[in-house]
Amino acid sequence: MLKKNLFNLLMTFAAASLILAACGAEENGASGSSDSKSTEGETTKLVVGTDAAYAPFESFDNSGNIVGIDIDIVKAIGEEIGVEFEINNVGWEPLFQQITNGEIDLGISAITITDERKETYDFTEPYYEATQLIVTKEDSDITKLDDLKDKKIGVQINTTGHYAAQDLQGKTSTNILPYETTPIAIQEVINGTVDAAIGDNAVILEYIKNNPDSKLKAIEDDSFEKEYYGLMVKKGNTEVLEQLNEGLQKIKENGKLAEITGQELD
Ligand code: ARG
Repeated sequence: MLKKNLFNLLMTFAAASLILAACGAEENGASGSSDSKSTEGETTKLVVGTDAAYAPFESFDNSGNIVGIDIDIVKAIGEEIGVEFEINNVGWEPLFQQITNGEIDLGISAITITDERKETYDFTEPYYEATQLIVTKEDSDITKLDDLKDKKIGVQINTTGHYAAQDLQGKTSTNILPYETTPIAIQEVINGTVDAAIGDNAVILEYIKNNPDSKLKAIEDDSFEKEYYGLMVKKGNTEVLEQLNEGLQKIKENGKLAEITGQELD
């Protein structure tokens, strides 16, 4: 029942805030209070934006909760630094706008750290290594990136998959079809609107795993570079950035991050 779920959710939040508040108080006692914590030892709440159509990093479970690797990471960071995170599904492009205009404090959304984005945003240290993959129909002739030169490519708009398609075909190519989400881009491969899609490796593999009847295959290509995900804040928001890096460093050191991601970062 919806009401009951809501109540449970609220109670969980209340309990979580108490626990986090306790951690915050403890830390304040040990290390002196930092600007972001009130003198009473209350915790700061930070508002997080994400695009929850991106399993295994962020997606909705059957009860309507946002879950995934990224969510586990912010929770683990929050526990370390005594900060409570409120997670909002804002969508991919609004995420960038809302960080810029201050509606949200940070983004976690499998966001690749790129030089271009670094002009407008600051990133934490990396927490995950990724690369691009091509996804196409099982019976397609496509075997490598170069085969997509004159093909229709579906991408999630303004992602690194989109940029990879533009590098191949040119920025203004009309054979690149940008969609709002990655699952839509993949669905358009199944529908035959596009010949292939390009997207983040773990997300494509998760989609194929979760949709065994979709008759899709994933293709690697050496020309896709390594990418690293980071948490993103508005450029110059060093206060939040330092807190996040502090928590991230702790969960790197205590093995929690590797446990969550299943990946060892150096
Ligand atoms: N890693 C890619 C990028 O930063 C795609 C991320 C898309 N994330 C999402 N939750 N939709 O461009």
